[in-house]
Amino acid sequence: MVKLIKLEPIGQETSVETNGNLLSVLLNKELDVLKECGGRGMCATCHIYVKDGMGALSPISRREQRTLGVITSCKPNSRLACQARVLDNGVTVELPPGMYVNSLQDIEALIGRRADQDMLHPITGEVLVEAGKLITRSTMKQLETTTSFKVGEYLTQTKDA
Ligand code: FES
Repeated sequence: MVKLIKLEPIGQETSVETNGNLLSVLLNKELDVLKECGGRGMCATCHIYVKDGMGALSPISRREQRTLGVITSCKPNSRLACQARVLDNGVTVELPPGMYVNSLQDIEALIGRRADQDMLHPITGEVLVEAGKLITRSTMKQLETTTSFKVGEYLTQTKDA
């Protein structure tokens, strides 16, 4: 059976097979979702807010709970889209603002420009560069000393259990 999903703030409606995960919904809509960990519930890049219908989704697993605990913009209605399966109608999903980057090079490529949206760390969701801020060499220097981008290392260290 097919279940209906609403997506905010883009105001679109879509559908998914019962038990399908929310990540597939977002990918079908060609939304910019990085899925840095490959859908294993270990990164921030598929983090969404459930505006309505939390009870129509599969329960939060221990791993999802643990990852949500690391994400700085986590709220009580946060879920990881790759881990949340749709069991019933009535789910409204809100995508957090900002753009995830998977390396400092992504930011470096924008030196001399203003960030058009918040640039976010792929594991913690931390805002690395705020929207409207000019990206300079000193922004890069500061990020190099304060920000770890060892995402691959983090993912191999984190047990798949
Ligand atoms: S894609 Fe990484 S947690 Fe969902």
